[in-house]
Amino acid sequence: MTVPLVAGNWKMNTTVAEGIALARSVRELVGSPRDVEVAVLPPFTHLWALRDELAGSAIQLGAQDVFWELAGAYTGEVSAATLVEVCGWALVGHSERRHLLGESDEAVGRKFACASATGLRVIVAVGETEEDRDAGATFSVVDRQLDAAFAPLIAQPDPDGFVIAYEPVWAIGTGRTATPEQAQEVCAHIKQHLRERANTSPRALYGGSVTAANAAELFAERDIDGALVGGASLRAEEFSAIVRAAAGGMPEA
Ligand code: PGA
Repeated sequence: MTVPLVAGNWKMNTTVAEGIALARSVRELVGSPRDVEVAVLPPFTHLWALRDELAGSAIQLGAQDVFWELAGAYTGEVSAATLVEVCGWALVGHSERRHLLGESDEAVGRKFACASATGLRVIVAVGETEEDRDAGATFSVVDRQLDAAFAPLIAQPDPDGFVIAYEPVWAIGTGRTATPEQAQEVCAHIKQHLRERANTSPRALYGGSVTAANAAELFAERDIDGALVGGASLRAEEFSAIVRAAAGGMPEA
């Protein structure tokens, strides 16, 4: 059976004090769910405090980004070697970094390779813009992003060591979720592409306006193995409801 992952991407939200309070509420509400992995990705500044707050709980901790070198003159960047001391996951390739900060496919690949080499588990985000979708280019864009992400990896990646998050750019923060059929189609494509190209079969998450109201129907799809949740992850009740939907609603593998 595939164990789903529900990860909350807090983005640039909450003060440290608010983040501690949110993590505490998530910990209390989520409890110890069976057969589902749960992670929260707060801002870097919160990681150390949240590591203590979440110690002994079922909630894992991750970073929203990571740099592609382990140390050196890279002002403002954060190394996987330090992140691995405080958290288990790192997100790379989020569309806000690709589009707002000009992060290239190549940079995402270097980050993935470097983070994996330190033992961090990695969430690799991919997804097409609305323009891409309208032009019928969804699969080719996702394939290009995946191929670039995998290119620098030296060793065959352990499929437990990373997940792919399919996040159509037009669905992020817009309230416009992909339909379960749209999300399923691309998640299935991603898995097939990685089986063929990289001989690996990781989990595929969906992200983009996931809420407690639409999570169950997304998780009922065969190839959707969890969610990367933005806005709704800032509301502990709602996030825990999404975790419950994942725990209860996965189809047989
Ligand atoms: P959203 O964000 O749930 O607010 O759409 C998802 C994400 O960007 O990971």
